[in-house]
Amino acid sequence: MKFELQLSQSGILENSRIKFYFPKLWLHLSQLLAPAANSNYAIPVWKATTGSTKFCGGIDAAMGWLWGKSSNGFGASTTAEEATEGIDASGLTAVVTGAFKGIGVHTARTLAKRGAHVIMAGRNLTDGAAARQGILNDIPEAKVEVMELDLASFDSVRAFAKEYSRKDLPLNILINNAGVMGNPFTLSKDGIELQFATNHLGHFLLTNLLLDNLKTTAQSSGVEGRIVNVSSMAHAWTYSGGIRWGKLNEEKGYQAMKAYGQSKVANICHAKELARRLKEEKANVTANSLHPGGISTDLQRHMNVLGAAMRLVGLFMKTVPQGAATACYVALHPNVKGVSGEYFNNCNIAQPSSNAMNSEIAKRLWDVSVEMTSK
Ligand SMILES: NC(=O)c1ccc[n+]([C@@H]2O[C@H](COP(=O)([O-])OP(=O)(O)OC[C@H]3O[C@@H](n4cnc5c(N)ncnc54)[C@H](OP(=O)(O)O)[C@@H]3O)[C@@H](O)[C@H]2O)c1
Repeated sequence: MKFELQLSQSGILENSRIKFYFPKLWLHLSQLLAPAANSNYAIPVWKATTGSTKFCGGIDAAMGWLWGKSSNGFGASTTAEEATEGIDASGLTAVVTGAFKGIGVHTARTLAKRGAHVIMAGRNLTDGAAARQGILNDIPEAKVEVMELDLASFDSVRAFAKEYSRKDLPLNILINNAGVMGNPFTLSKDGIELQFATNHLGHFLLTNLLLDNLKTTAQSSGVEGRIVNVSSMAHAWTYSGGIRWGKLNEEKGYQAMKAYGQSKVANICHAKELARRLKEEKANVTANSLHPGGISTDLQRHMNVLGAAMRLVGLFMKTVPQGAATACYVALHPNVKGVSGEYFNNCNIAQPSSNAMNSEIAKRLWDVSVEMTSK
């Protein structure tokens, strides 16, 4: 992992919010924790003592959050604007799902600010119109449009792809950002557990339906296409074995947060297996996944305790512009050219859980997803 300790001349770690708000507390903390401040050190120690890669994502996040920026100049405090500073995305076309709220709207705004033509996809067109107007108020020249997409419905995903193709738009960047978290057991319109349906299967189908466009756009423009799956460090808290094979839609044994973790393992495995396939085909398209950070948004709406806690500690969490940074970085930054199949956190490559790195899980998930989306 790439975090390196950044010491200021006074020997105190830079870029910490604790340092800013509670300088004395920070002084003690930084002295106490300095030896473990680099993930290069903390993760191997964790693995050696526990024999497990579980929570490595959490360690990365904690290190990144506490110690700010890594050697590439980006870190937990980096905003989407900073991560894409100086990048000219004009001529590129991007689809961002779940772009009407939260991290997605800021991701769309940042890509548009850099000149990309952004298609904001979501299910509530009234929210979409408001989100689009908000962007246009700040950036009058932004090329942003809104399209209807309900990821929890295969029909809606197919209708979106059809409409996209009818518009004859190219596609350089697909950001699979939309998500739900921790809802009580619910089945989607297609009879699939809602978190798996929305967070994984809807995006799996969407990506497959837009893939030819991504490949041909990359081929004709000579510009690498990029697929970005917004996962979460919560992927580490999935069911045992990663995926509840054969019981995906069973209410018995359903645990809301484990089901969320499962869908987020699926986001990472999807990107890894897709990246493998794209490499095999020698397609000029990459696929990566990421953890955006902990940000207080509507995502926590089903989580009374967690939501309240996140609001309470909001001061110490990422802001929405910081939460959009890694997605924008992976989608646009030249550092990421040719990088595929990786998991990012705080604009750096990070290590996900062992389930998420398991290529057998990724292959099996691919086959199961093809089967489930073919119905
Ligand atoms: N916030 C965090 O701390 C955090 C941490 C780790 C990972 N993430 C990930 O970051 C991504 C964005 O989350 P966020 O925090 O920005 O949450 P958010 O504010 O709740 O935004 C999620 C977006 O996804 C949309 N969405 C939900 N179900 C959909 C469906 N069936 N079809 C189409 N769009 C749908 C929502 O639209 P509606 O308004 O219509 O519901 C909303 O626009 C998610 O993938 C989440 O898992 C977030």
